[in-house]
Amino acid sequence: MQNEPRAAFTAMENATLDDWRIIAAAHGPYQNNLANRVLAHLRLLEGDHGGFPIDRFQHSLQTATRAMRDGRDEDYVVCALLHDIGDTLASANHPDIAAAILKPYVSEDLHWMVENHGIFQGYYFFEHLGLDKNMREAFRGHPSFTMTAEFCERYDQTAFAPAYDTLPLTAFEPLVQRVFSTIRRSIYMNAAPAKT
Ligand SMILES: [Fe+2]
Ligand SMILES: [Fe+2]
Repeated sequence: MQNEPRAAFTAMENATLDDWRIIAAAHGPYQNNLANRVLAHLRLLEGDHGGFPIDRFQHSLQTATRAMRDGRDEDYVVCALLHDIGDTLASANHPDIAAAILKPYVSEDLHWMVENHGIFQGYYFFEHLGLDKNMREAFRGHPSFTMTAEFCERYDQTAFAPAYDTLPLTAFEPLVQRVFSTIRRSIYMNAAPAKT
């Protein structure tokens, strides 16, 4: 906003505590709006089917719907919803984007599942592209191997059905808001302007 207070420094090394109080005060509302920014970005997948039977937005919703109907908890369902959000900006490594966005807000095993789902999903199609469908075997024995294999088997590789009764984004918005409301892991999570 135009009239909001601004810090006065031109180089960070000259910033004062008052400057950082202004920045810290602005950060709260910005952080609180993160879920809305994530949801807006997810909608960018709409209309982008890339040759698949349904577009990437519907695939995301269907993956989350299947996970929810299977009784998965909120964090898991949000991971399912966002697992392909990186397709727009990281076509060659899309799982890294979702993993980075979710990392401060979910458990380490859910983060690992999202980060590696691309390799595990390959079990269902890599042979058609001249790749090794068993690439996931490199991770056999990892504590999150089974849950990641299960995510792809039950929800991700099955979520391409045009006739499936997929829930709309509004069904997941409260879950996304809740998951993104609590930071669990971040170098900034204990940050506060110094006392004078
Ligand atoms: Fe994916
Ligand atoms: Fe997917």
